[in-house]
Amino acid sequence: MKQPHELREASVIGTSPPRKEGVAKVTGKAVYIDDLPVAGALYGVTVRSRVARGHLRGITYHPGVPWEDFHVVTAADIPGENTIALLEKDQPCLADQRINHPEEAVVLLAHPDRELCERARRLCELHIEPLPTVFDLDESLDGEVRVWGDDNILKQFSIDKGNVAEALATAPIIVEGDYATGAQEQLYIEPQGMVALASPKHGITVWGSLQCPYYVHKALATLFGFPKERVRIIQCETGGGFGGKEEYPSMLAAHAALLAWKARRPVKMIYDRHEDMLATTKRHPSRTRIRSGHDESGKLLALDIDFRLDGGAYMTLSPVVLSRGGLHASGPYHCDHVRIRARAAATNHPPHGAFRGFGAPQSVFAIERHLDKVAAQLGIDGAELRRRNFLAPGQTMATGQVVRDEIDLPELLDRALTMSDYARKRTEFARLNAESASRGTPIRKGIGLASFMHGAGFTGSGERYLASVVAVDATPQGTVRIRASSTEIGQGKDTVFTQIAQDVLGLPSHMIEVVRPDTAEVPDSGPTVASRTVMVVGKLVQSACQELRRKLSEGGLLGESYTPTEFASACDIFHQLGGVLRVESQYQQPTGIEWDDKTYKGDAYATYAWAVYVAEVTVDLTTYETRVDRFWALQDAGKIIHPVMAAGQIEGGVAQGIGFALYEKVVWKEGRMQNAQMTNYIMPTSLDVPDILVEFDDRATRLGTPAAHGPRGAKGIGELPLDGSAPAVASAVQHATGVLCGAVPMTPEDLMQALEAAR
Ligand code: MOS
Repeated sequence: MKQPHELREASVIGTSPPRKEGVAKVTGKAVYIDDLPVAGALYGVTVRSRVARGHLRGITYHPGVPWEDFHVVTAADIPGENTIALLEKDQPCLADQRINHPEEAVVLLAHPDRELCERARRLCELHIEPLPTVFDLDESLDGEVRVWGDDNILKQFSIDKGNVAEALATAPIIVEGDYATGAQEQLYIEPQGMVALASPKHGITVWGSLQCPYYVHKALATLFGFPKERVRIIQCETGGGFGGKEEYPSMLAAHAALLAWKARRPVKMIYDRHEDMLATTKRHPSRTRIRSGHDESGKLLALDIDFRLDGGAYMTLSPVVLSRGGLHASGPYHCDHVRIRARAAATNHPPHGAFRGFGAPQSVFAIERHLDKVAAQLGIDGAELRRRNFLAPGQTMATGQVVRDEIDLPELLDRALTMSDYARKRTEFARLNAESASRGTPIRKGIGLASFMHGAGFTGSGERYLASVVAVDATPQGTVRIRASSTEIGQGKDTVFTQIAQDVLGLPSHMIEVVRPDTAEVPDSGPTVASRTVMVVGKLVQSACQELRRKLSEGGLLGESYTPTEFASACDIFHQLGGVLRVESQYQQPTGIEWDDKTYKGDAYATYAWAVYVAEVTVDLTTYETRVDRFWALQDAGKIIHPVMAAGQIEGGVAQGIGFALYEKVVWKEGRMQNAQMTNYIMPTSLDVPDILVEFDDRATRLGTPAAHGPRGAKGIGELPLDGSAPAVASAVQHATGVLCGAVPMTPEDLMQALEAAR
């Protein structure tokens, strides 16, 4: 006889149906912003400062274009506040008097002829009287040249646990190290673009490539001084975001809307790759200094971390990037005495911003490199050193957060070591390398690892402040419509939300519609960031669908089990009876989660994903090229809703992490990116990305106690792979070359210098 659970219809959770939006994408039907047909549109272009800091003294419109046919916007044309409202209102939409970085927008031009716009841009000359600049993070912290506020500090905090000074004073072994990471460009396939319509009667409507409709909404309402209902933001199909379309789209939407407002015609602004790379946000460069105290077995007795980020010229999201970075800085390790000092400083670079991982890739890189330094110094294997220091359930993290996740990190590590044949290769490669060295041949092999975690959802009280809402309604035909501002940016949100709804409602996929994010049509379910969409918003999708189902069954219209046809007729009758078949679900802070924004104490994240990544590399000492030969990515990210897309998230993230480690180097000069082209800013191609073996271990579900915060035990996954990939690669390069590799990217030139310095 069949057991009841076998009789239940198999859930779609944990299966991999085709992408909801996949057919439209592969057949070219999907409408990206540059495809949007707009009759009578003007093109808009931006005139930028090109000077890193100064006073704007005047603008000359040189002859050579018919200026009378152009619509020209400057700061004086802004109807409301001249700011891009985000955390603070320090960043102007258009620079008025003060210039603080070389890509600052000063003048906007619109004309029907795109080529003429480009010409006009060159003939619009800005007269800027230069002021002293600061580009170096630590020089900014010294405060000699003040470029932001009283002290250049965009945000600082410290996390204190135990007594670090005392613990360091008594620890038998002290290890110190300095670590650094560079800027990184998100390199989404589709550059940024917006189309705006504006009229006194209808207000502002903007379509665009973006992650966070309600961020743009808030920015435009502030810029125009309009009530909320006069601003409407609609997301077009979006060709990737990776954090790069988190805050900058508000700027571009503001520019397009200002031109449209002035011209009373639709305006389209699309950046080409060069402008996109120059002007939009990048990952914050970082520097981290770590001093740690250990006993002879390598056990961590004290951990003192000084974590600094270069925020660029304005605040944008630096405080929250810094928070996430600081909160991940001590890694998945237990230590009774921890001090983490975190500071984000302003420089005259264009503002740095959100990029997948959001501060954690920087701080995780530092702690992981540091542990390899400790391991080398103590003569302990890096894997073994980590095992001796792993956090276990019931122990406290640096903020005092008690680990409640169902984790067994030594077990996770063992699996990763077995998968990658780590121990054997570790010995074998060391032997081969010694042989090669003695024979004078250039090839070296290495294998290394990183262990790490990533907090899911907004940091601290963020989710409580956001108070996200998801609405679900059903048509008389029984089509269930999910309304959320969460955006499909290639990560598969439409498909996963559909699966979650199907799981509750037992309906086929075609009866679930995920409504396009449009602020006139969807409530604010928060931004599509912070590895929060599946766990936080997905949970709201689940509870809203449960509520919808309850509503239908309460009316006696729906039984315990039903067919899709019965569901549709229940909806039909409900409508005929005059009922409103629409429900909303709002985020409620789970009980037992406490966070103090001021002291940085408490539950920084409701839950974490945990991982061990292993990289195997070959380094050629003739060319100093590093090649990643194989990669193993093992993680516990809770229940995996869609295994194929989840694996895709990990593979893509590892590829980006390899880029961060080996290839992607932003060359700066006077605050400007010098290599803002894909020919000289090198990202890994498919030829540079190895086979990546991805495995998920949902230990909690395996033990029958699925994680509580997401639907069916799901956690966040999107950013996780960025945290551990670069340090795993660097660890392998260290094994291959014997050189620490405390800074990324390690281009051949960098590696050559590091090896020569070590000699
Ligand atoms: Mo973001 S880096 O899109 O949280």
